[in-house]
Amino acid sequence: MSQGIFIVIEGIDGTGKSTQVRLLAEWFTAQGSEVITSREPTDGPWGKKLRDSAASGRLAPTEELEYFLNDRRQHVKELIAPALAVGKVVILDRYYFSTMAYQGARGFDPTEIRRLNEDFAPLPNLLLILDLEVSAAHQRIGARGDATNEFEQREALERCRQIFLSLKDEPFARVIPCNDSINAVATLLQQAVRQAGLAPACL
Ligand code: TYD
Repeated sequence: MSQGIFIVIEGIDGTGKSTQVRLLAEWFTAQGSEVITSREPTDGPWGKKLRDSAASGRLAPTEELEYFLNDRRQHVKELIAPALAVGKVVILDRYYFSTMAYQGARGFDPTEIRRLNEDFAPLPNLLLILDLEVSAAHQRIGARGDATNEFEQREALERCRQIFLSLKDEPFARVIPCNDSINAVATLLQQAVRQAGLAPACL
């Protein structure tokens, strides 16, 4: 459906996704591309409910999954598909691979989650999986909590990391180790974009 370029950046919390989304967008913009960046959960009504629930107590698993799907349906329809249709570069901070990872870690089957999403969500041209060991990621986000809580958080993040890594052989996916500096990681992302044949012609 698209003439544009669709790039998704994923990874567990603390891998530096939002910074890398911004830097990659700046890189494309500097070459004259029209770029749109966005994130999930979105700032729309479903995304807002999801963000609010982080403060007020997590939603029940089925309801949470449904909200993420509703949020994404709206995101695809109102922002992603229209931008791609007019040839823009769309760069996302999280997409349905996060649902596979996080709701997968909560007990749903990641393959089934993928199927539900691919019924309506377009595949990206490139999925960049930012990878970092859970202990390093955890340290970066300065996560706190009592010992049990922290143990549970790490266990859940480890499951998420493994689900992300299980996508490594998909033809559109690249795993990017991100324990180096911000600029070094940004360069790795640009190389991956070039290797995928998605860089503006002059690069
Ligand atoms: P995050 O990108 O970390 O938002 P913020 O920058 O506001 O911290 O996303 C919030 C959380 O939502 C994150 O822990 C991952 C989770 N999430 C899911 O559980 N499923 C999903 O499908 C998505 C997109 C995010």
